[in-house]
Amino acid sequence: MSKSITRPNNLEAFWMPFTANRQFKQTPRMMVSAKDMHYTTDDGRQVLDGTAGLWCCNAGHARPKIIEAVQQQVAELDYAPAFQLGHPKVFELASELVEIAPSSMNHVFFTNSGSESVETALKMAIAYHRVRGDGARTRLIGRERGYHGVNFGGISVGGIVSNRKMFGTLLGGVDHIRHTHDITRNAFTKGLPEHGAEFADDLERLIALHDASTIAAVIVEPMAGSTGVLMPPKGYLQRLRDICDQYGILLIFDEVITGFGRMGGAFSADVFGVVPDIMTTAKGLTSGVIPMGAVFVRDDIHDAFMTGPEHLIEFFHGYTYSGNPVACAAALGTLATYREEGLLTRAAELAGYWEDALHSLRDLPHVIDIRNYGLIGAIELEPIAGEPTKRAFTAFLNAFENDLLIRTTGDIIALSPPLIISKEEIDFLFDTLGRVLKKLD
Ligand SMILES: Cc1ncc(COP(=O)(O)O)c(C=O)c1O
Repeated sequence: MSKSITRPNNLEAFWMPFTANRQFKQTPRMMVSAKDMHYTTDDGRQVLDGTAGLWCCNAGHARPKIIEAVQQQVAELDYAPAFQLGHPKVFELASELVEIAPSSMNHVFFTNSGSESVETALKMAIAYHRVRGDGARTRLIGRERGYHGVNFGGISVGGIVSNRKMFGTLLGGVDHIRHTHDITRNAFTKGLPEHGAEFADDLERLIALHDASTIAAVIVEPMAGSTGVLMPPKGYLQRLRDICDQYGILLIFDEVITGFGRMGGAFSADVFGVVPDIMTTAKGLTSGVIPMGAVFVRDDIHDAFMTGPEHLIEFFHGYTYSGNPVACAAALGTLATYREEGLLTRAAELAGYWEDALHSLRDLPHVIDIRNYGLIGAIELEPIAGEPTKRAFTAFLNAFENDLLIRTTGDIIALSPPLIISKEEIDFLFDTLGRVLKKLD
């Protein structure tokens, strides 16, 4: 197939998100096509996707079931209003999703992104307490180093300084428990860290400060991805669950990265055996093909809204594109692909091989920690004094030149390939990365 224009003439107009714009525009990195595990660049190179795009292309690229579903849908029903009207695919998708969700979560609200899923979940939590007559519970608790997207609710409960400091006072009534990263005790742990379950007790400190009667919900990523892949210490999530139960606080798991197979099961709620009250998802829901998010809720939370006169809207929230037919088709094609290829559990099957290959890099220069679970991994580098992020960014640029896409956050390299990766491709990934790390200043 011929590609008409592979390099635009003018790069100025597009203000790129989360990008060093000036650096990129001097030396652009352009992807022009993708298939399965690889991107093709505009200079004709095959680049192995070590990050599933942005943690989203879990089924790999250009998968036939998804392409076919989208093509058919866009020709059949491109759009239907999302408010007061429906279409068959959105109901079909919700039913399929609740089948793979934890057993008490039988209702789904659709959004268009992880950020919107988070806003939806936070609003649901506050409104839930209000509809059942406990309207003083409005406070939201996040966690230091948490990432919950970029909207105001998400950055308020989030805990990444650079995502917060430019944007004023953020939402009121928000507080944070401490993060769980503890290299001193847990460096080079394979799987879940032994130490740190007690960090969950920090919630008790905030309860003592604010009183539980003012707290609506706690939101955490079961595995904190964007901040640099921080695994939950053993027993930590259960401890959070217990404290929330004790004080009537809702527990929200942000599974935007961990959902849809990344950790070795459909959701980390199953993998870690701790079920939240509300669960936010996006990314792997459509394998990144069409923007879509979904918020799963426990039955009694949904049911609490279903009261009052039946002609009245129960929840004043929703998006023009909630449950867009083409997005639904992409999600159904994605779920079919996951099912037919066993992808939701493939990370568990490959985890041992992945872990060994990843930890083989532990003695390379500047490496101060390596961590992993399922098909996710991180290599933390010692920052260059006075120039944080530069060492990892250099690794990113060098890896890209050597046909490997990795992701960096701060001085941490994060790896999360599509779930279809082969053992040979895992070998290529870590051989290439090893060579790149050896050459780093
Ligand atoms: C845990 C988590 N929540 C929310 C988001 C935001 O998702 P989006 O970029 O689709 O808005 C992300 C994105 O990486 C995420 O990792």
